[in-house]
Amino acid sequence: MTDDLDGVRDHYRATGLTERLKTALMALGPQDARLTPEQLGALDQFHTRGLAATAELAKLAGITADMSVLDVGSGVGGPARFLAATCGCRVTGVDLSEPFVAAARYLTQRTGQSEQVSFQTGSALGLPFDDGSFDVALLQHVAMNISDRAGLYREIRRVLKRGGRFATYDIVLKSGEPHYPVPWARTPATSFLFTAAATREAIEPAGFRTLTWQDDSESAKAWITQLRASGPPPSPNLGVVMGPDFAELSANLGRSLMESRLGVLTAVFEAASIDT
Ligand SMILES: C[S@@+](CC[C@H](N)C(=O)[O-])C[C@H]1O[C@@H](n2cnc3c(N)ncnc32)[C@H](O)[C@@H]1O
Repeated sequence: MTDDLDGVRDHYRATGLTERLKTALMALGPQDARLTPEQLGALDQFHTRGLAATAELAKLAGITADMSVLDVGSGVGGPARFLAATCGCRVTGVDLSEPFVAAARYLTQRTGQSEQVSFQTGSALGLPFDDGSFDVALLQHVAMNISDRAGLYREIRRVLKRGGRFATYDIVLKSGEPHYPVPWARTPATSFLFTAAATREAIEPAGFRTLTWQDDSESAKAWITQLRASGPPPSPNLGVVMGPDFAELSANLGRSLMESRLGVLTAVFEAASIDT
C-alpha cells in the first residue's frame, strides 16, 4: 500500500480556516486579547482525551525547559503551545496541511508564543530537518494516516539526537474495522491502522528501545462515557476546524473505541544506534 498524501491533505483541507477561527474566537474576547493554551483546549488538541493526554505524554517523555521538541503532524498547534507553556521548551511543529500550519501560526500569535513555538509545512515521510536536530519527537494521532510506517519511524529516528526520546500516542486496531467516517479519514482510503504489536514491530527496527508501553484504551472509553454524559461540547471546539460533520466523525470514533474495534496506545522510546 502506498501513501496517498493528496488524499490526506484533502481530508484536512479546512477551507478558510484562519478566518473561521478569528470569528469563532470572538466568543473568548477581543482580537487583541491574549489567549491561553488552556482556553483553546477544546479546539486545538486534536486527539482523544485532549489536554490531559498531551500533559501525560510530556511527563512520560521527560520534557524539560532546555529541550528542543519536534511535534510531527502538529495539527493546529495545540500540543506544541501547551508543551512550550508548561515545560518551557522550544517546540517546532510540522504538518502536511497548509491551512493547519497557517492556523497554528495565527493561534500562536494569539497566545503570544511565536518566539518559542514555530510551524512548517512538510511531510512526516521527508522531514525538513537535519539529522540529530531534536531531543524529543512527539507523534499524537497521526500514524493512522500513514501506511509507510517503517519510513515514518526511520525519519523520526533520523532527526532525533542519540539518546533522545520518541513519544507516540495513537489509535490502534483491535478487532474488526472502525465505523467510518472517523476524525482522520472519511473513507478507508486514507486510514492505515496497525495493531499495537505491529506498531512496535515497525518502531524498534528503526533504531528505538522501548521505555514505556501502555494500553490506554480503558482511559479513552472512560473519557467517551464522560463526554456522552456531559452533553454538547464547549464552544468553540474542533467543529470549527473540521467542519459541520465533526460531531459524526467523533461519535464514530467513540463507538469504535467502546466496541473495542479500536484501542489507544501510549509508548515512549529511546533513540538508540541506527542499524545500517
Ligand atoms: C488528528 S490530527 C492530530 C493533530 C495533532 N497531533 C494533535 O494531536 O492535535 C492529524 C494530523 O496529522 C497530519 N498528518 C497526516 N499525515 C501526515 C504526514 N504524512 N505528514 C505530516 N503530517 C501529517 C494531518 O495534517 C493532521 O494535522
